[in-house]
Amino acid sequence: MNNPQYRQRAIQLREELSDDYFLLWIWDEALGAAGKAGQFYDVRALASLKDAQNAGKIPKLFKPISIYDNQGGRIGFMIKKVGEGTAALSKLRAGDLLELIGPAGNGFPIFQGKRILLVSGGIGYPPLWYLQKELINHNQVYWMHGGARQGDVFPCDEIWTEDGSIGRHGRVCGGMRENIAKYDVNLIYSCGPMPMLASAAEISQELGIEHYVSLESYMACGIGVCHGCAVPIGSKDDWDYHRVCKEGPVFKAEEVRWELL
Ligand SMILES: Cc1cc2nc3c(=O)[nH]c(=O)nc-3n(C[C@H](O)[C@H](O)[C@H](O)COP(=O)(O)OP(=O)(O)OC[C@H]3O[C@@H](n4cnc5c(N)ncnc54)[C@H](O)[C@@H]3O)c2cc1C
Ligand code: FES
Repeated sequence: MNNPQYRQRAIQLREELSDDYFLLWIWDEALGAAGKAGQFYDVRALASLKDAQNAGKIPKLFKPISIYDNQGGRIGFMIKKVGEGTAALSKLRAGDLLELIGPAGNGFPIFQGKRILLVSGGIGYPPLWYLQKELINHNQVYWMHGGARQGDVFPCDEIWTEDGSIGRHGRVCGGMRENIAKYDVNLIYSCGPMPMLASAAEISQELGIEHYVSLESYMACGIGVCHGCAVPIGSKDDWDYHRVCKEGPVFKAEEVRWELL
């Protein structure tokens, strides 16, 4: 499946993770076979489209949500409620319809025989959950995850919280150098807020370690049309804008022009 497809699928299962986070599961074998770790879907609650139409309002935009899990045709999304679009998704229950466009974006490259560090922050956790499942049998993998507080962290090898409520106290990048040395890391994948990714990229560049980042960018169309999600990619002297939703969200960390973001 080369181009993202539009579908409506019923929610098979909904799971609560905390006050803000929840999981939605759908079932589609064709989409399951097409999806890769790091790709995402533009999703919208069908009810929110109907509500808007009935009220004569402009419908809410589709929201980019990463593939959290993909077992055959059982596809999971882990979502944090932050604004109107994700609040509408949070109202979905089993049997309700989800609109989907995807799988979209390029996904992470997969390697074998590497010593890998995964670094995630906040809602950067879901794509790395799927990624570590793809990597774990053929690589040595150590996963660090950080969040603002206890409610923002989930199972992994090393947890960091900014308020110190659980795990190590501080920002997750604070532990990167230690773990790179301890596990002799030669490949890094990261996903999270831009400042976190910029810090992680600075460390990998300084140490000369290959590093792939999945960028979070505000998306309007989510399908490569509006160019609203474009970021500067290339070398210092020769860069161009690339769309996070089409050419990304995964880029080589050294190719992102962090100084221009
Ligand atoms: C490729 C990609 C994959 C993503 N995967 C997931 C995922 O798996 N699970 C998940 O919960 N979220 C994910 N997100 C983030 C999610 O798309 C946003 O949280 C969502 O679009 C917010 O929509 P909203 O209508 O609820 O909030 P809005 O009303 O659009 O925004 C609420 C507040 O959050 C801020 N905000 C919204 N989106 C972003 C953003 N991307 N970066 C920084 N600030 C933002 C806004 O400025 C505003 O202050 C992903 C984003 C991208 C680009
Ligand atoms: S969001 Fe429109 S081109 Fe990426």
